[in-house]
Amino acid sequence: MNAIELMHVAKGMVAKGKGILAADESTGTIKKRFDGIKLESTEEHRRTYREMLFTAPAAAESVSGVILYDETLRQKTKDGTAFPQYLMKQGIIPGIKVDTGAKPLAGFPGETITEGLDGLRERLIEYRSLGALFAKWRAVIDIGEGIPSAFAVEANAHALARYAALCQENGIVPIVEPEVLMDGAHSIERCEDVTNHVLSTVFRQLFAHRVLLEGMVLKPNMVVSGKKATNRAGPEVVAEATLRTLRRHVPPAVPGIAFLSGGQSPTEATLHLGLMNRIGQPLPWALTFSYGRALQDTALKAWGGVAANFGAGQKEFGKRAKLNGLATLGRYTAEMESQAA
Ligand code: 13P
Repeated sequence: MNAIELMHVAKGMVAKGKGILAADESTGTIKKRFDGIKLESTEEHRRTYREMLFTAPAAAESVSGVILYDETLRQKTKDGTAFPQYLMKQGIIPGIKVDTGAKPLAGFPGETITEGLDGLRERLIEYRSLGALFAKWRAVIDIGEGIPSAFAVEANAHALARYAALCQENGIVPIVEPEVLMDGAHSIERCEDVTNHVLSTVFRQLFAHRVLLEGMVLKPNMVVSGKKATNRAGPEVVAEATLRTLRRHVPPAVPGIAFLSGGQSPTEATLHLGLMNRIGQPLPWALTFSYGRALQDTALKAWGGVAANFGAGQKEFGKRAKLNGLATLGRYTAEMESQAA
């Protein structure tokens, strides 16, 4: 894939009215999700659950792409079509999570570095041959007493940029995901400070690594108060702080920004996205979603691992996807929660 093709795929991932489904939970993470509905995490249960999401009626109207996990990329629908090929036929772009997780950063207690660079070129070549057109790498920055350190931010930004450059070399659009966690009791001001520092470091490293900004998608956290903060900032304050921070650091050459939900409730995540798209116009980039939990939680519960509830799970997923699609157009209102089918 050349630069033109990378740009074309990146644009498709952030197409108007659509966003990305993050269904790339590792085997360990999906087990935790299934524990919540008391379902054993077998390969077949994982396959069925992903099939439920991917084959939901009208999903393609609001879903531009799906991030898959290694196992899922190799699985098939019950009719025998490989998931990436099935998605492509619906007009949904398949992607793949390629990092191997955040591990403790030696010498920096409480901080992590994301692993997965060794052998990445070879893995990308294989993933591309299996149909993945984009990839994802998540760096994790925690806020706490004395952290994040400048060193941990730099090390994670460096790894993100090395990953992004390798992706583009191999014809794959990188989703660059530096996640500042919302765990903890910190204020929204502290989240804004840290997010400013992180984004400025990430873009400096992307430039240094000669990453084509037009051929990537940024997946950041929103600027929010910590989950355990007593006086959490309201939606308008979140929308304004997030827009201010992104405008300071994300060059207009980047085609789109697709937020992670990071532990926000499904309705909160939709409300914030909708507000930003309403009050932020004109925006230099597309502003959309790449949600995991905020798109899946209600669908997972509605399904509950019961075959008879397959359609009910699809309906819930379809509802959240549609409402988030409307949020990208600035057309979402809270009243739609009770109206949407
Ligand atoms: P959440 O939206 O659940 O944070 O997941 C998105 C994601 O892909 C995290 O890496």
